[in-house]
Amino acid sequence: MLPSIVILTGAGISKESGLDTFRDKDGIWSKVRIEDVATPEAFARNPRGVHEFYNWRRRNLQGAHIAPNAAHKALAALERGLPGRVLVVTQNIDNLHERAGSESLIHMHGELLKARCAECAAAHEWRGDLSPETPCPACTAVGGMRPHVVWFGEMPLDMERIYAALGTCETFISIGTSGNVYPAAGFVAEARGAGARTVELNLEPSEGASLFQEKLYGPAASLVPAYAEKLLNRN
Ligand code: APR
Repeated sequence: MLPSIVILTGAGISKESGLDTFRDKDGIWSKVRIEDVATPEAFARNPRGVHEFYNWRRRNLQGAHIAPNAAHKALAALERGLPGRVLVVTQNIDNLHERAGSESLIHMHGELLKARCAECAAAHEWRGDLSPETPCPACTAVGGMRPHVVWFGEMPLDMERIYAALGTCETFISIGTSGNVYPAAGFVAEARGAGARTVELNLEPSEGASLFQEKLYGPAASLVPAYAEKLLNRN
């Protein structure tokens, strides 16, 4: 059964959990350049440097100071309250939706706690560091292990399943994303074109704000629980 509520999340939903966003003034892209750490060309040119960038983020994500916030928990409760009707599509590579209890979840940009072998394509749960010397646990090849994340210029994951859900959902909610990166930034147009009600919950208007029929601005940890409660009471 296709979900009636599709929820797109971005880095803003994890901000109050202690993880940086990308394009806010103190965001990740104000400290490192995309071209140096988040493209296949960067990895080919400097694999050790790219591994160090993701090793730091992987260690930080597993720190005791990082935990799901009320927004992640509210989305997991919404899924439990409306069985089979909610799908979260996250651009985030953190595991906070899972830790909050979300199960109907697509990581369209991959996952920080997974690694993939370029030789045999096997993907593995991965909590330690990676380096160019890391052997693949499946085929033992060395030099091919990479973070299981989608870099700029690569195809996001599960796009068919995402577009199928966008084409039939009744409500599309965008939370904590600036609407700068496609294809995610185009999801609101897809959903609206298919007749869905479109809602933006964000700290400030995103690039695609004009496409949303309902817009609420403020921190996700306050906005999302209240909105999820409204959806539960309405359905
Ligand atoms: N609550 C809600 N929204 C917030 C909060 C908060 N506490 N803090 C920040 N925001 C909003 C910002 O206003 C901004 O609109 O979250 C958004 C974050 O935007 P970006 O930093 O651009 O992150 P995102 O939209 O997820 O980036 C998309 O770009 O770099 C790539 O792969 C990366 O998945 C990422 C993609």
